[in-house]
Amino acid sequence: MKTLTVSVYRFDPIIDNSGRLESYSVEVNDGARILHVLHNIHDYIDPTLSYRYCCGSGQCGSCAVRVNGEPVLACMEEAQDNMVIEPLKLAVTKDLVVDLTENLGAIASLIPKAEFVMPTKEQIDRIKPLRSCIECLCCVSVCPAMDVTKFFGPIAMRQEMRLSLDPRDANDRVSEAVEEGLFTCTSCQACWKVCPKDIEIPGKAIEKLRALANRKGLTLPRHQEVAALIQSTGRSVTRSEPTFLEQVGDVIEPNGQVKGIVGFFVGCMYNMRLPKTAFDAIEVLRRNGIRVVIPKEQVCCGSPLIRTGQLAFLDSLKRRNIDAFVIRGIDTVMTMCAGCGSTLKNDYRTPFVLKDISEILTTYGIEPPARLPIKATYHDPCHLLRGQGIRDQPRSLVKMVVDLVEMPSICCGSGGGVRSGNPDEAAALGNRRGEEIKKTGADIVISSCPFCEFHISEHTDRPVKNITTVLLEGYKEKDKVS
Ligand code: SF4
Ligand code: SF4
Ligand code: FES
Repeated sequence: MKTLTVSVYRFDPIIDNSGRLESYSVEVNDGARILHVLHNIHDYIDPTLSYRYCCGSGQCGSCAVRVNGEPVLACMEEAQDNMVIEPLKLAVTKDLVVDLTENLGAIASLIPKAEFVMPTKEQIDRIKPLRSCIECLCCVSVCPAMDVTKFFGPIAMRQEMRLSLDPRDANDRVSEAVEEGLFTCTSCQACWKVCPKDIEIPGKAIEKLRALANRKGLTLPRHQEVAALIQSTGRSVTRSEPTFLEQVGDVIEPNGQVKGIVGFFVGCMYNMRLPKTAFDAIEVLRRNGIRVVIPKEQVCCGSPLIRTGQLAFLDSLKRRNIDAFVIRGIDTVMTMCAGCGSTLKNDYRTPFVLKDISEILTTYGIEPPARLPIKATYHDPCHLLRGQGIRDQPRSLVKMVVDLVEMPSICCGSGGGVRSGNPDEAAALGNRRGEEIKKTGADIVISSCPFCEFHISEHTDRPVKNITTVLLEGYKEKDKVS
């Protein structure tokens, strides 16, 4: 047995104007789940505590709550001391019970065709990854697009894709999904990462529906323009100055002994719009013993095409990029754009290993820079945090040079084609990011994705800098002093 102290959200609409956290001390068995803690409070301390549950075994989805801010199933998650248990971020009916009506009502039902049709085994297998939803609404409670638009949400998109694969269904599910906000998804992957059934909604439902929408001519005009630009130039953005690849050498040798060798996949934004940041990265790598090989024939990774469902010439881009590194015998390719890194790691099959620059720098270790007398906050790019599972490495680099003050890891609104296709939504999410930045009181914002850096800088009055730029500032300060 052990005694845990937990905080639980309490709100009774009949007597309370607003909710509050109440602290409880409960005695539970070792290995007890959060649901056992709630039972204990209800049975021995306060029988008015309201919460939902049914199966107690991760099957019904009714017990979903937020624990320390993250949606989980109360019956599956082990109880921890000092945890904060709150309802999902949905309209609260009482205590931990939320109103499910609107979101469950938005899930489409199968409309049978007039004629009798039986799905084949292959069709059933294709539907399977989308079928295991237990309607817990964890995904809905974290979706940024739903906060600022009328998007029906990840659970509704999962069902539309599932029905579009079902030969018995009579409706046009793709057009329906477009109407329900298919193009408002920012590809942040938050829904997938909290799903207790591990349903890959962004890749297996949303991107697939967008590809089907493309075949029906429903791709947003702005997304079509980006695809046309990639097809004609190999790049997803136009240049604003001489590109990084035009200015840099083929191989950059480190200042001292060679500790490691990487190929550098630059990405469209750092190549065409932010070459100075890419040069800052090169300086940091040189200073820390990394030889950098830079194939000039590399092109766009194809991320803007994959995220918006425009796949017609994607394979030729992939081939050109893979060949560019393979013919140079490179076994480790480094990215510094979170979106490119996530795409190369998850949407390519490469004969080489892919590493984000923060992984390279922390693996080989870096010379400590001078500390700068500023306070910084760090924005987790969705495609680095959730797309590549990289959280600690950037933070350990940031902490070497400045004081870090944390803020919630929320989407800035620039991904998934939203910045180009739905600028109002992107601005609303950018403003929300800006508000969180303001609350930290930080002097600067640090990130490691050109799209995030570019977008956030429009929604905050603090300077937004890449990690490598800040490290380089630390080195320059060190050189000045010594
Ligand atoms: S990927 Fe992000 S924006 Fe898209 S449905 Fe999932 S949570 Fe919402
Ligand atoms: S998709 Fe996953 S997170 Fe969303 S309701 Fe279904 S089971 Fe829950
Ligand atoms: S009680 Fe059914 S999933 Fe938790």
